[in-house]
Amino acid sequence: MKSKKNLVLVGMMGSGKSSIGKLLSEKLNYEFIDIDNKIEEIEKKTILEIFKVKGEKYFRNVEENISIKSLKLQNKIISLGGGGYMNPNIRKNVLNKCTSVWLNWKHDTLIKRIKNSKKRPLAIKLNIFELKKLIVERSKIYNSSEHKINCDKLKKMQIVEKIIQLYENS
Ligand code: S3P
Repeated sequence: MKSKKNLVLVGMMGSGKSSIGKLLSEKLNYEFIDIDNKIEEIEKKTILEIFKVKGEKYFRNVEENISIKSLKLQNKIISLGGGGYMNPNIRKNVLNKCTSVWLNWKHDTLIKRIKNSKKRPLAIKLNIFELKKLIVERSKIYNSSEHKINCDKLKKMQIVEKIIQLYENS
């Protein structure tokens, strides 16, 4: 494996960034950093609690700090939170230093996966119409990542293999 760049997964809530990131880290033998988990570890609270007690603005600040610190490391597989890539500072770091892959799914697939989530504050707060709007708006930004995979027709391991191919050739 010649590339030393971090491999960063971006995409909406429910796009499989965490589970695919874990599989990638086992296959490539690189450490996996799940930014949401890292935030929960450092803040000693769940994401839901952070949103409730300290608010979204506070969460986004912590998310920015931890994401940027993590993106500066090497040989990591990193899964950003669904909103992380919307932050221009985080995005700049991803695009300048990392190989990025957007896990793209049909909107209805994502909605089905996230609408009943009890641990995602935005999925709890927004109705289906608002979630769809968020997906459409964010997709324009996710689309700036280096690679895009349309995941709907693929099995999990096929997604993993595709990402490894893209990474090895980047
Ligand atoms: C968010 C996505 C979540 C988490 C937080 C906010 C978002 O991460 O960071 O609930 O704004 O889309 P996942 O994409 O891992 O669910």
